[in-house]
Amino acid sequence: MNSIRSIKNLKGKTVLLRADFNVPIQDGKVCDNFRIKKALPTIEYLHKKGARVVIISHAGNDGAQSLAPVAKILKKFVPVIASTKTILSKEEIDALPKNAIVLLENIRREEGEKKNDTALAKALAGMADMFVNDAFSVSHRAHASVVGVSKYLPNYAGLQLEAEIKNLGGVLTKPAHPFLFILGGAKFETKLPLIKKFLKTADAVFITGALANNFFKTAGYEVGTSLVEEKDFGFKAMLKNKKLLLPIDVTTLSGSEHVIKTLANVLPNDKIMDIGPESVKLLKPIIADAKLVLWNGPTGAYEHGFDKQTKAILKLLANAKAKTIIGGGDTVEMVNELKLEDKFAFVSTGGGATLEFLAKGTLPGIKVLK
Ligand code: 3PG
Repeated sequence: MNSIRSIKNLKGKTVLLRADFNVPIQDGKVCDNFRIKKALPTIEYLHKKGARVVIISHAGNDGAQSLAPVAKILKKFVPVIASTKTILSKEEIDALPKNAIVLLENIRREEGEKKNDTALAKALAGMADMFVNDAFSVSHRAHASVVGVSKYLPNYAGLQLEAEIKNLGGVLTKPAHPFLFILGGAKFETKLPLIKKFLKTADAVFITGALANNFFKTAGYEVGTSLVEEKDFGFKAMLKNKKLLLPIDVTTLSGSEHVIKTLANVLPNDKIMDIGPESVKLLKPIIADAKLVLWNGPTGAYEHGFDKQTKAILKLLANAKAKTIIGGGDTVEMVNELKLEDKFAFVSTGGGATLEFLAKGTLPGIKVLK
């Protein structure tokens, strides 16, 4: 994989840049510009070196969302032209100023994008002299603008992609010890490979969020109407692992009340929505001792207002000596809300991509770069 820093002469060259501006947009306004900010160093680097930069991105799943709101934010930082087209002809590209930055319209409007269609990949490649992937967070998708296009152009890794690989890859290859892995959220199936992997390499694995409910249930506790998996992923065997740590108290939705309870006090009508403060206290000395902390997934249903304990742990980590890597997704929203990003060694831009990278050590969009 070659870095954009290794490109000798960018002057007069057209670079096709895959960025990931799949950001939350409401009423035509971007609600969180974290991914946009993280794309800036690569855009600025290419622009300053004299390249014409043609940016491709998607937003939303189906192409319905326009990238115009993203262009509005980008314009505050770089002189970007927003195109209403998903692809431009060679003539249209050549007619642009030599140092232009263009943001093309949502690539998922092209039917061939998700199918990794060869004709689309070739048409994308036809716009430029080289391809740069800086979209780590969509690199788990074998789509035309992520994987297909790289076959037809000299290709490079952007600065954010490099940073993601360096930081997340470092956790896989040379983790400092004591190493604490915190895993929250739901959907056991997607998280199981990570639990298995880090039970081997970390010193402690704290399972939280809805994932923990399965272990409470297996251990014989009442979980009421809480979210639990129907399938048994081998919870009993995992429970025996001494490295596995579980919350010792929870916050339930009991009627319309938020109540903090010990595990033994949960009732059949309760719904577990977050962990409790005693569980945060349990983590305190482990965090204080840790040299490395990797965290993915909130401790509770933050989208329903159960964000207190996730924020409490984030604050503990922000003041700890440990190198902390936040593994992207939902937790990042809270990091940004609390303005804590600078306190952590690295905050990943990925959601699903981060999980897959941590599980497999690479992604389809990274594998194809050479
Ligand atoms: C993400 O936000 O995880 C990426 O942009 C991928 O988006 P997708 O799940 O719609 O493919």
